[in-house]
Amino acid sequence: MNLTETKAWSAVLADAESNRDFSLRAAFAADPNRAADMTLEAAGWTLDYSKNLVDAKTMRDLRAVADECGLKDKIEAMFNGEHINETEDRAVLHVALRALSGGAVVDRGTGEDVMPGVRKVLDAMANFADEVRSGSWKGHSGKPVRNVVNIGIGGSDLGPCMATLALAPFSQRNLRFAFVSNVDATHFAETVRDMDPEETLFLVASKTFTTLETMDNAKTAREWILKHYDGDSAAVAKHFVAISTAADEVAKFGIDTANMFGFWNWVGGRYSLPSAIGLSLMIAIGPDRFREMLGGYEAMDRHFRTAPLEKNLPVTMALLGIYYNNVLGAQSHAVLPYDQYLARFPAYLQQLDMESNGKSVDKRGRRVSWQTGPIVWGEPGTNGQHAFYQLLHQGTKLVPADFIGFMRSHNPIGDHHVHLMANFFAQTEALAFGKTADEVRAEGTPEALVPHKTFTGNRPTNTLVALELTPATFGALVALYEHKVFVQGALWDVFSFDQWGVQLGKVLAKRIIPELTADSPLAHDSSTNALIGRFRAANR
Ligand code: F6P
Repeated sequence: MNLTETKAWSAVLADAESNRDFSLRAAFAADPNRAADMTLEAAGWTLDYSKNLVDAKTMRDLRAVADECGLKDKIEAMFNGEHINETEDRAVLHVALRALSGGAVVDRGTGEDVMPGVRKVLDAMANFADEVRSGSWKGHSGKPVRNVVNIGIGGSDLGPCMATLALAPFSQRNLRFAFVSNVDATHFAETVRDMDPEETLFLVASKTFTTLETMDNAKTAREWILKHYDGDSAAVAKHFVAISTAADEVAKFGIDTANMFGFWNWVGGRYSLPSAIGLSLMIAIGPDRFREMLGGYEAMDRHFRTAPLEKNLPVTMALLGIYYNNVLGAQSHAVLPYDQYLARFPAYLQQLDMESNGKSVDKRGRRVSWQTGPIVWGEPGTNGQHAFYQLLHQGTKLVPADFIGFMRSHNPIGDHHVHLMANFFAQTEALAFGKTADEVRAEGTPEALVPHKTFTGNRPTNTLVALELTPATFGALVALYEHKVFVQGALWDVFSFDQWGVQLGKVLAKRIIPELTADSPLAHDSSTNALIGRFRAANR
């Protein structure tokens, strides 16, 4: 059942109709407990959702929609290892990667308890990470590793890249971490430009080990190493490890499968950071901190699975998003971390959310008549304030936004953190309450300028705060968004764990590759033919 088929959906629509003139100013004035009543806690995080365009009744009705859609059962189906990724006939068990304090987690398709494998890989990663960190893992010429370069793309890049930056305060600073993803050779060339091959370790991360970009970059990296060592192929074993589900492909590439860290087809690429895909992060912060991160993930998982819907952070954020997306017509959702360490978090969320819920057929393959996943975007505060916040404050678009901040800074220098957080608090206040024309006039503003200096307010935000950015709060934050995406996909009745939409472009690119270097006749449309012709002419 999708959200529009529930009885409660008509109540949600009726709420929106009767709340056409909903005003955050009025709502706060009428109810001194609004903030307290609309604040939730879980796994080190506080969510204040009071600055949203909803009242208690709308929230109740949205929760009733979730109930009617069988959300609780759907959550259980995921945690219980059922094959909810039906188009690929797979379980969806990224939650098993961090279920370290519990017992068995069974893949219902194979009947296998996946936990022994999870623990085994985690231990192998820890041993390897310790070797690299201590300098006992040596390159082919006997030098310890100084540069760790992850080669991967999508889920095999965005998670570890984002997380290695996010948890930099906990990382071993004599090691340098870099991430090469783009098939554009510039990415590789500029990354390794100042690196000594003898001190460089490549982690080739690819679930399938067939992804064009990753294979191209990995081959180029292998050539770079071999060239340095005059073609001595024994160097490969000391400078390359693989992270993959595909041992045969890894062996084909020439990496010894003894140097491979495995994971499983029940881990979706965009959910793979807590798997072996997080090896670069583990080398950076060490196995203990990595386990603390998994503990944070697990705490949020537990909360998601057990908390009643009205106290459930991921569910609440998902329902609010649905209200804006499906009722009030918002097209996008902004994520605005007020912490430089989370600079890549919006990019990470783009894949997590848009690759999961950017679908337009329901689970039975019928075209949906309701909106599905929003466009997710964002930048770290305060940079965004000096770029696109004008539109957030005075534009014609409804852009719900999540503001994410921390009470304490890892760099308590001068007044920076006070200034940062003053902006953090000021922005959601300004967005919610605006400034009326009368208030502008009362400042002596000339009448002609009054409309330009007026702020309508009523622009919805969530505020998410934690004491500090730690491995645990970080893990909990990622899990929070994973589960938010899950809930939305469940109510939109789409398959959130496949990504068929990325295939067509890949197939067409493979067809075009040989055409770019040949002179054969072209059989595309006139636009594509002409563009390929232009490329051929420039590269003759
Ligand atoms: O772009 C599609 C995709 O399949 C993502 O889902 C995935 O994270 C990425 O490519 C990389 O895939 P792989 O880890 O198999 O190289």
